[in-house]
Amino acid sequence: MSELTVPAAERAAARVAVPALGCSLGDSGAAVETSISGNSITIRVTLAFPAAGIRETLEREVAAAVRTATDAARVAVEVGWSIVPRAPQGQLAPLPGVKNIIAIASGKGGVGKSTTAVNLALALAREGARVGVLDADVYGPSQPRMLGLAGAEPESLDGKHIEPLKAHGLEVMSVGFMVGEATPLIWRGPMVTQAVTQITFETRWGDLDYLIADLPPGTGDTQLTLSQKVPLAGVVIVTTPQQVATSVARRGLEMFTKVGVAVLGVVENMSTFLCPKCGHEEALFGEGGGAELAAACGVPLLGQLPLNGAIRAQTDVGCPPVAADPEGALALRYREIARRVALELSRRPKDQKHKFPKIVVEKQK
Ligand SMILES: Nc1ncnc2c1ncn2[C@@H]1O[C@H](COP(=O)(O)OP(=O)(O)OP(=O)(O)O)[C@@H](O)[C@H]1O
Ligand SMILES: [Mg+2]
Repeated sequence: MSELTVPAAERAAARVAVPALGCSLGDSGAAVETSISGNSITIRVTLAFPAAGIRETLEREVAAAVRTATDAARVAVEVGWSIVPRAPQGQLAPLPGVKNIIAIASGKGGVGKSTTAVNLALALAREGARVGVLDADVYGPSQPRMLGLAGAEPESLDGKHIEPLKAHGLEVMSVGFMVGEATPLIWRGPMVTQAVTQITFETRWGDLDYLIADLPPGTGDTQLTLSQKVPLAGVVIVTTPQQVATSVARRGLEMFTKVGVAVLGVVENMSTFLCPKCGHEEALFGEGGGAELAAACGVPLLGQLPLNGAIRAQTDVGCPPVAADPEGALALRYREIARRVALELSRRPKDQKHKFPKIVVEKQK
């Protein structure tokens, strides 16, 4: 039976499925404000994650559901978002202006962390967030090239802070700007720690909803520095479907869990190869690795990306797929993953705490 009341309208809105996210609007943590005037209803939905790519569909679906439930003559729906900070509280100095720092990591090298990081950053920006990229790979910085900024030099206006560079709507900082991408760095632990802390805290970031940190492979100094000195809101683990990659990725994932950084989920990269000539799709590196890793660690599989020549070619020349063709099939995949990452993050408790495990060095006898 239809009923033209605020609770009836809001119950109907809460039941609407959020496109491609596998949850209802109610479960997504959205805030709904409703007003009724005569037999017209106005609903304002505020999501906790950016969602430009699904905004219109959601508005249409909420309007249809509310109309059916209430028999209102006119239903106006407006979907927007407000991104909440989920940085750990209390123990670490916050990064001024930055709501959420998300690290992109994997135990293994060459699985596509940097490619995923840059495309996810661009995807979050397309979805309507303010985004920065922190290239924390001091040994092999790749963001300057991937964002078409190779050779650029950031400036300091006050002699204390560094101004981030801008590319495709993102703010960008990389050790690569200081030392050049080709310079092989033979740095010891403390220097790495210092460089990463410095570019994180001395960059004058604007107001950002998300700062995406591209990590080097492994579970070494950068990962520890970042998780113990930088207020990470969460980490996304990248893996290929291969067994060896997933088992190394698992070690990376477990390291973050141990220090209390929220693992938001797993992205499986190079899942299948789509032959550009015959259209045949081949699971070159095996199947199901990402899903198995995610299930074994109790975190969501955030999405899968194909091994695709355009991803490599466009990212290599500084204009990754999400910037080159934001409405193209590849960009839409990254954008869907970006919404999932943001949704997962928004579901974390407000007062996350990092753990600081005691490091015991045994004396040699
Ligand atoms: N889905 C993909 N399809 C095609 N090529 C890809 C894909 N993902 C990454 N690549 C390519 O694979 C190579 C390695 O990717 P990338 O540099 O992102 O990996 P990484 O994990 O950051 O490596 P490192 O451990 O050295 O930091 C690059 O040449 C990149 O263009
Ligand atoms: Mg990399």
